[in-house]
Amino acid sequence: MSFGRKSGAPSSSSPPPPPSINPTAPQAAPALSPSVTAHEKNEIPLDHLEAPQVEDNHTPAPEVDSMTALRLQRARNRIWSDLRDGIDLKALARMEGKAARDEVQTAVEEIARFRNLDLTPAELAQIAKECGDDMLGYGPLENLLSEDGIADIMINGPDTVYVERKGKIQKTDIKFRDNQHLVTICQRIVGAIGRRVDEASPICDARLPDGSRVNVIIPPLSVDGACMTIRKFTKEKLTLEKLVGFGSMTPSCAKLIMAIGRARVNVLVSGGTGSGKTTMLNCLTRYIENGERVITCEDACELQLQQPHVVRLETRPANLEGVGEVTMRDLVRNCLRMRPERIIVGEVRGPEAFDLLQAMNTGHDGSMGTVHANNPREAISRMENMIAMGNLNIPTTAVREQIASAINVIIQVQRLRDGSRKVTHVSEITGMEGEVVTMQDLFVLDIVGEDEHGKLITKQRSTGLRPKFFDKARAFGVEKYVLDAMEEAYG
Ligand SMILES: Nc1ncnc2c1ncn2[C@@H]1O[C@H](COP(=O)(O)OP(=O)(O)OP(=O)(O)O)[C@@H](O)[C@H]1O
Ligand SMILES: [Mg+2]
Repeated sequence: MSFGRKSGAPSSSSPPPPPSINPTAPQAAPALSPSVTAHEKNEIPLDHLEAPQVEDNHTPAPEVDSMTALRLQRARNRIWSDLRDGIDLKALARMEGKAARDEVQTAVEEIARFRNLDLTPAELAQIAKECGDDMLGYGPLENLLSEDGIADIMINGPDTVYVERKGKIQKTDIKFRDNQHLVTICQRIVGAIGRRVDEASPICDARLPDGSRVNVIIPPLSVDGACMTIRKFTKEKLTLEKLVGFGSMTPSCAKLIMAIGRARVNVLVSGGTGSGKTTMLNCLTRYIENGERVITCEDACELQLQQPHVVRLETRPANLEGVGEVTMRDLVRNCLRMRPERIIVGEVRGPEAFDLLQAMNTGHDGSMGTVHANNPREAISRMENMIAMGNLNIPTTAVREQIASAINVIIQVQRLRDGSRKVTHVSEITGMEGEVVTMQDLFVLDIVGEDEHGKLITKQRSTGLRPKFFDKARAFGVEKYVLDAMEEAYG
């Protein structure tokens, strides 16, 4: 008997059969939503007006004849039950990943031999993989986590898992055995970085070892079972060139954004949830010069700056006794004492907005942040509201003046209804007129129509206006990019 297993042959007693690890039960493939066809054709029946439904077009599990399915299910249950009784989980946890998986595989093969199970080598290998995923990894999520092209994984309880592929949300046929199974996987994920999620603290943010961002919320707060949302880390680093390739913006808009990144212009990237704000911020940071001292403040580190002189700060939630919380505001204020040249705030969503504006107004040119808003004008009022949340008792006009003098440019990104992500505005704040912050658009996106596949036809155009930061761009030697972007409007 080797290291990871408890000594003794697999138990021959028959404990109640556990549910399967990753059942391919015939009922696993739900019927396609009847509204999909209508939605795809973009027709909304007038006599039956209802909200368009999410696509439910997951590939149904391949037809397996029911006898085979039953045989596999029985073998799975048998193996899983013996494995649970026979393997020493503590010893397994101490082993290296590959060695532990080999150990599970050997144990599964031994059980199959001992029980004389009728399995092909391929079936055996599949069951061994499922057992390994369950005991050592992220169970049924393992395949989704390793699949390229998935942006988000959204688990709404043990039976409902959605993913986002190519901008479209799709339902998968992945299921967990029960809520406890799902909670165990959630705990394993957050436990790996020293966080916890249980009834006492049912909400948790964490990061997977590969950099993916995770949020978990469990019952009683989530009513229908534990929910986990994973924003997968994209191995392929998105750059402005790639975004141009995806059609998110024109090459001349990308040039303007490059100039904005280089010329130490203060920028807010604004957009809805999952619209590509962090990605755009990451792209902008590529143009920061190597010599600059940059300090980033985030809730969970997502930015990947390549420059040598970067300090990364991360907020911290309160501990079980409710103390020790370090907020974004604490971080931003502290980093002002760290001699930053630029400050980058991953997501501005509270009173730290005020400190970021202060930083922008006090010589930390080229500071950046993202904000949840649907258009540039709304981004300004969001900032205003966030400052009001801090109870600093600053008159509205003064706040607006601060905003107008601190922020130079707002880049608006949006996930359009066909799933594509685009830059819809590059707008510049030009000053104040009375009590109103004035702006001018440098680039705007027009939606021209829709093709037969439901893809939106869009056209991004330069307005040809000369940005106020032109002189700054000249000082940094990037005025050519700005001129190119302006000229596009005329030529
Ligand atoms: N222009 C783009 N084209 C295609 N995919 C994109 C584009 N921009 C971002 N993505 C992808 O979309 C997903 C969401 O992007 P990102 O994390 O930048 O969004 P976000 O607005 O910061 O989201 P959140 O509001 O959750 O913080 C990521 O998987 C990213 O790789
Ligand atoms: Mg983000």
